[in-house]
Amino acid sequence: MRRARPGPRRGGGAPAGAAARPRFYGRRRGHRLRPGRRRLLDELLPRIRVPDPGEAGAVEPLALFAGAVGEVWLEIGFGSGEHLAAQAAAHPAVGLIGCEPFVNGLSALLAEVERLGLANVRVFPDDARLLIPALPEASLARAFILFPDPWPKARHAKRRLIDDQALAALARVLADGAEVRIATDDAGYLRWILACLARAPAFAWLARRPADWRHRPAGWPPTRYEAKALAEGRTATYLRLCRLPRGPGQGRERA
Ligand SMILES: C[S@@+](CC[C@H](N)C(=O)[O-])C[C@H]1O[C@@H](n2cnc3c(N)ncnc32)[C@H](O)[C@@H]1O
Repeated sequence: MRRARPGPRRGGGAPAGAAARPRFYGRRRGHRLRPGRRRLLDELLPRIRVPDPGEAGAVEPLALFAGAVGEVWLEIGFGSGEHLAAQAAAHPAVGLIGCEPFVNGLSALLAEVERLGLANVRVFPDDARLLIPALPEASLARAFILFPDPWPKARHAKRRLIDDQALAALARVLADGAEVRIATDDAGYLRWILACLARAPAFAWLARRPADWRHRPAGWPPTRYEAKALAEGRTATYLRLCRLPRGPGQGRERA
């Protein structure tokens, strides 16, 4: 799903009074939606939408699922949602929260949620960096960032989703022992991610041998972007990380 080069947010940046809002560089809209997809945005999205943290304050992940799930996983930038929908279908006792500002991708996920009758999906249709600070410490059991936009030009590197701050924010909301899965097809971004991880004391890379990062592990459904990258001859790298246990007195105690 490598799309035309994203431009700056329409409307010229943050509105007055929203100075803390991070700038989102991707596209929020693509081609015109079919009526069926628009209906899903009007009718299904309000039923499974994660409340705006600006209005709700703290967002407790388990409460979004009314106690019907035992743990919650987060996918950041789910694209068209094929990975998220497959994980939700395979793990009905897990709640899946997906963040994606691109409305066409969001509508594709909603179509899958409806088609498969998935009751364990919640959607934050915006920048994940607005939601993560509102999540309680150690409230997630797994996180996925699959093929984030690589921003290969050096002058655009600061637009990358994964950086030191993002990993620190993720470390706060992940439970001890939680798994993080990251994939990229961009060698420069891979080096960047590994450098960030080397500076991130909360994470350990679980790889033991090259096959661990060269092949998509079992239980990791493919994504649309990945399929396109592989079809175009690029190589994907799959990283599995562990959120290391907090020391005594660090973070909230979990039941
Ligand atoms: C290259 S696409 C990959 C999509 C999907 N993960 C896949 O593998 O097919 C990256 C996606 O991340 C989304 N994205 C970028 N920045 C984001 C952010 N801050 N929060 C949530 N999603 C974001 C983009 O809108 C885009 O859909």
